[in-house]
Amino acid sequence: MENLEKKFDRTSRFYDWIDWPFERFRYRKIRQRIWKGLSGKILDAGVGTGSNIPFYPENQQVFGIDLSAGMLERAKAKASSLGKNVDLQKMSVYHTPFSDGTFDAVVATFLCCVVDQPVLAARELKRICKKDGKIYFLEYVLSKKPVRRFIQKMVTPYTRFMFGVDFTQDTLATLQKEGFQIIQEKNITGDVLKLIVAQI
Ligand SMILES: C[S@@+](CC[C@H](N)C(=O)[O-])C[C@H]1O[C@@H](n2cnc3c(N)ncnc32)[C@H](O)[C@@H]1O
Repeated sequence: MENLEKKFDRTSRFYDWIDWPFERFRYRKIRQRIWKGLSGKILDAGVGTGSNIPFYPENQQVFGIDLSAGMLERAKAKASSLGKNVDLQKMSVYHTPFSDGTFDAVVATFLCCVVDQPVLAARELKRICKKDGKIYFLEYVLSKKPVRRFIQKMVTPYTRFMFGVDFTQDTLATLQKEGFQIIQEKNITGDVLKLIVAQI
């Protein structure tokens, strides 16, 4: 399997174009809701091309990390054109240099449905978030409905190959197994796109 870094370097060229209708009609208002009121040191984990950047709160310390230089390049351009201050760094979410309990809040939008090792990602995010901090996941997950599940399983080899996205993850179960406390679980689109707010 082509590694995710190469895949997203390639995808970075057309990511925003393909994502635009979803961004405009589905994701934008949820991103706004997630970021509203966050303060302190905040991590945007798997920042991608920076789709969360327009919603970063002013005068807070935001860090964005990503595996792909191509995606980060676009995030940098977005931050600069919007005049947003964000520290963008290339690294894997599996092993970060941040100390335990560094962040007041962590945001991971469409990260667990992409990473090849969601457990490692969840563990690292848990380690670097403060005890009373919140971790926000916006993720595609495997439906409980048989027909939807079937379709998700059918399309995933294609979406994995083209965009790196896996629609068959059970992120809620992963987080529960890893000992996260689930504060909120909200269906955004059917039961396939979920907002999960967790604490450690
Ligand atoms: C589907 S994109 C989502 C980007 C952005 N969060 C958003 O909401 O549009 C997933 C991102 O995760 C990044 N990624 C994949 N594996 C990663 C890893 N192990 N560590 C850090 N970033 C990773 C990819 O490079 C890609 O930019």
